[in-house]
Amino acid sequence: MSLVSFVVNGRRNTLAVHPLKRLLDVLREDWELTGTKEGCGEGECGACTVLVDGEPVNSCLVPIAQIDGARVTTIEGLGGRHPLQQAFVRHGGAQCGICTPGMIMAAVALGKKPSLHQIRVGLAGNLCRCTGYSAIYRSVQAATKRRNRRERRDRRDRHTKKLRTHFAD
Ligand code: FES
Ligand code: FES
Repeated sequence: MSLVSFVVNGRRNTLAVHPLKRLLDVLREDWELTGTKEGCGEGECGACTVLVDGEPVNSCLVPIAQIDGARVTTIEGLGGRHPLQQAFVRHGGAQCGICTPGMIMAAVALGKKPSLHQIRVGLAGNLCRCTGYSAIYRSVQAATKRRNRRERRDRRDRHTKKLRTHFAD
């Protein structure tokens, strides 16, 4: 057993655990964060994707000892109202439920304004074996558009506020 200390979804955790226990199993069994799914268990499908220090990793391949001192974000850490989660529901990207959490976590790592090409490349390690990728790409694009619209609106509001303050003086 080793003592491993890391942060999961903003909460620090120290665990006495076998150093080779997989991050995936620690999340699901020790933390009851069952949103992270196991597909292949061999690093091929991406269903188990979580973020470690902001980078997407296949948690089925990571021994917990490697996570010491790291920050881990799982699908639960997005809080259920992340623009990507909403877009996956609205645009049909949430299909089988096994691949979806991994797809969303990989999409989070793409940043705010990924192009379609970047989305395709970024999700290339996340396999869908049932209905295909169109709805998934559409969902990521919709979340991007929505976020961009919101940012434009916030910028415009800030500008208007500045003008008002300026002319009120
Ligand atoms: S379950 Fe980890 S990559 Fe498939
Ligand atoms: S494998 Fe999940 S939607 Fe295809």
